[in-house]
Amino acid sequence: MGDIVNDIKTRLDIVQVISQYVQLKKAGRNYKGLSPFNSEKTPSFVVSPEKQIFHCFSSGKGGDIFTFIQEFEGVSFPEALQILADQSGIKISNIDKFYKKEAKSEKDEYYKAHDLACEFFEKQLWDSKEGEKVLEYLHKRGVTDETIKSFRVGFSPDEYDALYPILNKKGIAKKVILNSGLAASKGIGGDQIYDKFRSRLMFPIIDYMGRICGFGGRALKKDQDPKYLNSPENPIYNKSKVLYGLYEAKQSIKEKDQVVFVEGYFDVIMPHQDGVKNVVATSGTALSSDQIRLIKRLTSNVVTCFDSDSAGFEATKRGYFLFNEQGITVKTLSGLGVKDPADFVKERPGEFAGIVAKATDFLGFYIDKLVTENDISGFEGRNNVLKEVLPVIKVMSPAMKDFYVREFASKLKLNERAFYDEINSFALPKDHPAKEESGANQYANKITTEEIILALALKYPNLYKEIGGVIDENCFKETEKTIYKGLANQYNSLRMDLNEWDFSDFSAEVKEKIDVLCLYAEDNYDEFGHEILELEIAKLTGKLTKERRKKQLADVEESILKAEKDGDKEKLMKFLKDQQELISN
Ligand code: CTP
Ligand code: MN
Repeated sequence: MGDIVNDIKTRLDIVQVISQYVQLKKAGRNYKGLSPFNSEKTPSFVVSPEKQIFHCFSSGKGGDIFTFIQEFEGVSFPEALQILADQSGIKISNIDKFYKKEAKSEKDEYYKAHDLACEFFEKQLWDSKEGEKVLEYLHKRGVTDETIKSFRVGFSPDEYDALYPILNKKGIAKKVILNSGLAASKGIGGDQIYDKFRSRLMFPIIDYMGRICGFGGRALKKDQDPKYLNSPENPIYNKSKVLYGLYEAKQSIKEKDQVVFVEGYFDVIMPHQDGVKNVVATSGTALSSDQIRLIKRLTSNVVTCFDSDSAGFEATKRGYFLFNEQGITVKTLSGLGVKDPADFVKERPGEFAGIVAKATDFLGFYIDKLVTENDISGFEGRNNVLKEVLPVIKVMSPAMKDFYVREFASKLKLNERAFYDEINSFALPKDHPAKEESGANQYANKITTEEIILALALKYPNLYKEIGGVIDENCFKETEKTIYKGLANQYNSLRMDLNEWDFSDFSAEVKEKIDVLCLYAEDNYDEFGHEILELEIAKLTGKLTKERRKKQLADVEESILKAEKDGDKEKLMKFLKDQQELISN
């Protein structure tokens, strides 16, 4: 197995692997991007092509390509191995031999059930008498055979026992079929099983890895309720973690560095047919922060194009908050002139790309809408507008705030100062989307000043002499202490400036930590000259001294309080003296 792991590692480059999921930009000798594990606006996720490792300084997660896939996809090691083997073109047929059978778990049976169901629905569409009419319906809506095939759209017949017996015969467990929502049970003891999707156009929902994990079924008969029947959540389907069309759109989103968000299944496949392939839909759920995270791996430019009704507008507004919160710019496509993108493409083929390019900033559009809908010459009308606008502006960066305050103020005929006062005194409501994620942005595993100094010493051995005496080794955690002591030994035994440390005596675990610290130094101090680095060290050690003094002061204050409480005058005097010394130093 070790051979396969190494084989895969030599064939795949970590930067390429991770770039499929995270948008990386070159930063010195490394690559950087927004952490896929945390919501953040400032990139803390670093990938090193030399070391073939990644490290996320906000979540503390790090490792090689296998660790990345495991963390990112939430899969076990064998699954990550399989995924990367697929990517590298290496065949591992007997992966199970090396791992316990249950690793190939339940989930596979769910995937198999969905694959079989999809094949069945497709066959019904193309090969049955009933299917002919459904094809006709699709053609009438402007969908071509090619599009139907590429999205694997199918048809579930108007029967109660078409799919279930087939899945059953193929050995799929009853429990799996029921949990997948492909069938339901009734009768005493639930012994009568019947198909759930009947007389519906079937859109398979495909996850990020290209596996079918659910279905959306559109009603085909008049008065058939609901209009869309969607798969229930099950071990392979979490509706807030999947975006319809993303698998097909991935490549195009990366190439164009932009994604178009639409509402429905047809709104994804029709633009696709029209050559605009960077389109995804939330299909049946409100946009979630997990979905935004999925997108953030690929781009930070979003265009929303929701239905031109009030629900669509609310979705646009909500999306605007959520995307902004994660540092994503949002443009909005308005004025399609028809209900939705699918209708637009049907009526005006060849024009969708052009209209996407005309998407404009959402707020400008929103301001105009509010100003036309309210009588802003009166106090009440103006107040109505403010009520809508304040939560939007409140969460902006200072530069954006400045821009929009000017724009709004002139449109609303409002004094800019008064506007700022309103913004400052406005409190975001508790359920505001921008509030949901706040706090997640803070570095969970903050790197300490001591660690930064150690990182610099590792990366630039000739800086060691500047820090030798300053650090108290007891401030380090175990691994760091080992490193620090190791460096001190090497320095002391040679008693001269070093150009290179020798890491060969360290254990694998310690070496890993060294890699991470070096990565930090590379990320933050690459291409700094020696003098600037010396200044930086001086700044850091100064900070360290200050931090230490602050801690000592806090300790002394605590002791003073305790001595007072205990009435121990002698101790009290001593601590007060200590305090004086600390303050005056
Ligand atoms: N939707 C849903 N459940 C419903 C209605 C809608 O899950 N009962 C989701 C579907 O993903 C649907 C999207 O919301 O595609 C948009 O709904 P709607 O505009 O009503 O459907 P369209 O996609 O426009 O479908 P059609 O064009 O066939 O009317
Ligand atoms: Mn629609």
